[in-house]
Amino acid sequence: MSSNIPSSFKAFRIFDDEDGYRSSVVEQSIEDQNDGDVVVRVAWSSINYKDALAGTGQGKILRRFPLNGGIDLAGTVAESRSDRFKEGDEVLMTGCGLSETRDGGYAEYARVDSKWLVPLPEGLSLQEAMVLGTAGFTAALGLYRMEANGQTPEMGSICVTGATGGVGSLAVDMYSRAGYSVTAISGKVEEFDWLHALGAEQCISRHDLHWPESPLASAQFAGALDNVGGDTLSGLTRVIKPWGNIASCGMASGIGLHTTVMPFIIRGIGLLGINSAACPYSIREQLWQKLASDWKPRHLDSIADEPVDLEGLPERFGRLLEGGGRGRITVRLG
Ligand SMILES: NC(=O)c1ccc[n+]([C@@H]2O[C@H](COP(=O)([O-])OP(=O)(O)OC[C@H]3O[C@@H](n4cnc5c(N)ncnc54)[C@H](OP(=O)(O)O)[C@@H]3O)[C@@H](O)[C@H]2O)c1
Repeated sequence: MSSNIPSSFKAFRIFDDEDGYRSSVVEQSIEDQNDGDVVVRVAWSSINYKDALAGTGQGKILRRFPLNGGIDLAGTVAESRSDRFKEGDEVLMTGCGLSETRDGGYAEYARVDSKWLVPLPEGLSLQEAMVLGTAGFTAALGLYRMEANGQTPEMGSICVTGATGGVGSLAVDMYSRAGYSVTAISGKVEEFDWLHALGAEQCISRHDLHWPESPLASAQFAGALDNVGGDTLSGLTRVIKPWGNIASCGMASGIGLHTTVMPFIIRGIGLLGINSAACPYSIREQLWQKLASDWKPRHLDSIADEPVDLEGLPERFGRLLEGGGRGRITVRLG
């Protein structure tokens, strides 16, 4: 074993065995983790909705047990058998099986498969990379897919649902920086000032929203990033302008989708699926460059809540699943 890696370090591990589904902070060695050609000394990770589902057992995320939690990580290469990375390189990884099929980023050291590892782009610190994390990458992938399908700022406003959440708040900031007029839809009226400060031109309370029944209701938005699913996504299909796009990334309120073909064949709208975890490497690298430059949100300091350590994870998982948080939570390691 390399002298760069201590024989024992801390990890947040998730179990499902004869004692039931549970998670706790454990001491482990690198040999307890799955194989990989690079070991990262993790400096920062983050909390995403998926992490909260995995950590509490409220969603089936892990495909094998036990595994370390954490779908994101950023840190420094401690040991490498890859030609692409050497000791000391700063790197990040989001999704790509972390805390799903492989040990994740909630560990002081993580052994990973270098084919998914992204060099930290110039313009981002390790902590900023994790304020963004899967949430920021997902917001960027949403915009990338909408623009690839013809979306432009001139077409009109893009609506972001679940706007105070991790993906939502980063999208509000990022899309306004990219030149779009942004309409934020949120359940938290008390956060409207904050959403305006991030770049939202208009804020709408989700509690006052009544989606029209007509499949071709009066068109309100040129595009949408939907974190919510269910009735919200169904409603959005009815109010998107001709040739606009909906990037569907979340299901905070449900997985159902009840609509008709009318908006697709009469208005030509696009419904685009967002899968950040399995995004091809070439797009991944390209989007992290954008996230470090012209799509970098301007208010990361305001979006980032106080960091937590591994012991603080369970309490934050609960709050996040109740929909009560705002912005992003980073996890400090090392
Ligand atoms: N497809 C992908 O690759 C991908 C990647 C990352 C995340 N996601 C998904 O995207 C969604 C958001 O993730 P996140 O990490 O941003 O989570 P988050 O921080 O918990 O944000 C979710 C937000 O959704 C809103 N919300 C919560 N419960 C709701 C309900 N019952 N009805 C309507 N709105 C509700 C709340 O915002 P307001 O109070 O402001 O309305 C909440 O802050 C999750 O479903 C997650 O699984 C998907």
